[in-house]
Parts: sequence; structure tokens; C-alpha cells
Amino acid sequence: MSTIAAFYGGKSILITGATGFMGKVLMEKLFRTSPNLKVIYILVRPKADQTPQQRVFQILNSKLFEKVKEVCPDVHEKIRAISADLNQSDFAISKEDTQELLSCTNIVFHCAATVRFDDHLRHAVQLNVAATQQLLLMASQMPKLEAFIHISTAYSNCNLKHIDEVIYPCPVEPKKIIDSMEWLDDAVIDEIAPKLIGDWPNAYTFTKALGEMVVQQESRNLNIAIIRPSIVGATWQEPFPGWVDNLNGPNGIIIATGKGLLRALRATPKDVLDVVPVDIVVNLTLAVGWYMAVRRPTSMLIYHCTSGNLNPCNWGKMGPQVLATVKKFPFEKAFRRPNADFTTNTITTLYWNTVSHRAPAIIYDFCLWLTGRKPRMTKLMNRLIRSLSLVEYFIKQTWEWSTYNTEMLMSELSPEDRRVRTALT
Ligand SMILES: NC(=O)c1ccc[n+]([C@@H]2O[C@H](COP(=O)([O-])OP(=O)(O)OC[C@H]3O[C@@H](n4cnc5c(N)ncnc54)[C@H](OP(=O)(O)O)[C@@H]3O)[C@@H](O)[C@H]2O)c1
Repeated sequence: MSTIAAFYGGKSILITGATGFMGKVLMEKLFRTSPNLKVIYILVRPKADQTPQQRVFQILNSKLFEKVKEVCPDVHEKIRAISADLNQSDFAISKEDTQELLSCTNIVFHCAATVRFDDHLRHAVQLNVAATQQLLLMASQMPKLEAFIHISTAYSNCNLKHIDEVIYPCPVEPKKIIDSMEWLDDAVIDEIAPKLIGDWPNAYTFTKALGEMVVQQESRNLNIAIIRPSIVGATWQEPFPGWVDNLNGPNGIIIATGKGLLRALRATPKDVLDVVPVDIVVNLTLAVGWYMAVRRPTSMLIYHCTSGNLNPCNWGKMGPQVLATVKKFPFEKAFRRPNADFTTNTITTLYWNTVSHRAPAIIYDFCLWLTGRKPRMTKLMNRLIRSLSLVEYFIKQTWEWSTYNTEMLMSELSPEDRRVRTALT
């Protein structure tokens, strides 16, 4: 067993956002490689008529957890779903559950966040800033806590071009923003949001930057690290290649291409897509948890988990591969034959959006209407075009992230852990 896997044995671990993309892979890896861990507490809200327990049952019975059930047959007993809503005061956790979390937790992984680029500022502040503050307050009352790992994003400082593994101050004080969101009404927030967000492209990246400031301000005597992944993509190897469960970032673009919906993407072949497989992010996260708890560095550490500087993947490389793959393994019920190209300016983008995206959707919907069925393609196409416009900022630019701490951590790993955890070079 690796040193890191052995470290998590016997631990009580708290994960927020465990029902999300990264959280599920993190939980899977922990159970699979450290089956003797004591318990994983996960904060889950009831959703879509499902109780937290039903949601967990569904996750454990998914394909992602097939290997876990072989190595950790009592996984159901080792997972404690705690009903919680991070938007509520004290997370709406019962007194008994709070007591158990406070007295037993050894490691916290804070993954929960709103990752929607077009989320309302109030909601983004509530979840990405205020909830982080509240969780840190809880963590400060955990006598057995060894490490607190906060998942941020490499784009929290995307208003800069070169980003070091440090916290950059925001022009506004997070506490003032949290307070103002409590009493301002939505119309006023909508009006002031662009001014508050300033150089950041959206409320998500802005509130993740504020969240990091909160972590720094509320760190007290906690042993804290921040992980900043860039775009998190499908699994590379673990537990099996290609697992993904959302349409964020490149996933949505690949699926829209495969379905024949996306015919033109505003990018140049040279533009770099800074994507990192989710299992690599999880491996780094677990290594950081181990390092912080065992080595206890004197200050908070920040780790970049990016690929652009090490092993860049540009659209010119990725585009033909995506097209070749979706042609070899065609999607079911594709709208058109997959074929996509790059557009480079506003005029050609507008042209292709009209001719190749909107016009076929309108014609298709007209046929649906003629045959008495409900038109749906125009709505879907408008959503796709809007999603593309939201990610354009990240497609069109490149950033340079320093990775000193990440490299230093790699040099601290045992040969077995290094073999498992390094992959980007
Ligand atoms: N995905 C990426 O490309 C990427 C890139 C860089 C950084 N990150 C960071 O990585 C972390 C995880 O991202 P992800 O992609 O896994 O996001 P995700 O799939 O959207 O998961 C978000 C998680 O947060 C939970 N959550 C949201 N609101 C909540 C609430 N009010 N109460 C309790 N839980 C709540 C969600 O629970 P429900 O299931 O109930 O909705 C879900 O478990 C985030 O901090 C994100 O900023 C992600």
C-alpha cells in the first residue's frame, strides 16, 4: 500500500460537494485505496424527491463505484450522509450530527461550490464565500482536525496573466460583500454586479477569489491548503478511463460535436485548452491532504493543478481527435453528421451561428411543428450558443501558472506514490 493510502486508514473524513463531479471521484478513490478508513461524512441536500440516503445509494450503485464494492464490501456502512444545505444558517445540520462532525473529523475536503458561470452574484457569494467561511468556523472547533483542503480554481485570478501559488487580494473585502448580499435586493445586485466583479469574467471566478481570501483570513491556527485545478476533465485512468458525468467545459463541446449540433467553435488551432483529468486532480488533493497533516508546514500552501505549461493540449490537436472518435463511435440520435471547424472573429462566428446552427434548428422545429410534435431544437441551440459564449473567455486566452509547490510535493512522495500520482509530464 502507498504511504498516502496508508495515511487515510482509520481516518474520519468530511467531504462537501461529494455528490458532484470531483467529489464522487475523490470519495471513490479514498474507498478503493484506503478501504480501512473509518468513515466518510458527506454533507448532502435532499434533491429531486430523493433523500440524502437515496442519493448516496444511487451513487454507490453507479458504474464509478463498481471496483469499490470489490475492495470495500462494507462501503455502505462507512459512508455517513448528513442532511445539510450549505445555503442555510449552520448548514441546517442537526445538533447531534454537528456534534459528531466536530468531535470526530480528522480531514476536511471542501469541494462544494456553484460552478455555473452565469449564476446570480448573491447565490455565488452565499455558496463560494459565506459557506466557506462557515465551514472554516466549524473546522476551528474540530479538536482532531489534521488538515483542511479547500478546492478552488486556477481561474480565481484569471484577471492576471501570470499566476503564482499565492493569494492575491481582491479589491473588495469578502465580509463586506457577504453582508451586503444579505440586505440588497436582486435588482440592486444586478445593477452593481458588473462593477463589483470588475476584471473577472463572471461571478464564479470572482467569488472563488473571494473564497480564497476568506480561507486566508479565517485560517486561525488551522492546517490549510488550497488546490487550484484548471478545467477538470474526464478520468484519465482511475477507476477506468473516460468517466465523466457533466456537460461542463470541453465535455459539452465534445458531446455537442458528436451529436452534430456544434459545427463551428470560436477558437484557433493554437489556443490551449488547459484541461486536467479529474483523477489527477483527486490524486493531488489526496497527496496534499497527507502532506499537510504529516509535515504540518508553518503556513498555508496553494497548489496549482494545470496542464498548459507541462503538457499543453491545443484545439488543433484535440479537434481532429474528437472528430475522428465521434465518427468511429457515432452518437445515438445525432442531429447531423459530426463536422466542426474553427471560426476566428465575430463576423464569421455570427455567420456560422446563423447558417449552421440556428437555421437548421429552425427548419427542424418547423418539421416537428408540422407533424404535430413539440419544437425543441431552437431552444437547445440557443442554450448551446449561450454556453459557448460563456466559455469563450477561457478558450481565447492562455495563462501561465507557476507550479513550485506542486513540484516540491512530488519530490516528497515515495516512489510508489509518485508513480501513481504523476502523470502530466
Ligand atoms: N469542474 C471543473 O472543471 C472545475 C475546475 C476547477 C475547479 N473546480 C472546483 O472543484 C470543485 C468541485 O467542482 P465540481 O465540478 O465537482 O462541481 P459540481 O459537479 O457542480 O458539484 C458541486 C457540488 O456542490 C454541492 N452543492 C452545491 N450547492 C450546495 C448546497 N447548497 N448545499 C450542499 N451542497 C451543495 C453539489 O450538491 P448537489 O449534488 O446537491 O447539487 C455538488 O455536490 C468546486 O469547488 C469547483 O469550483 C471545478
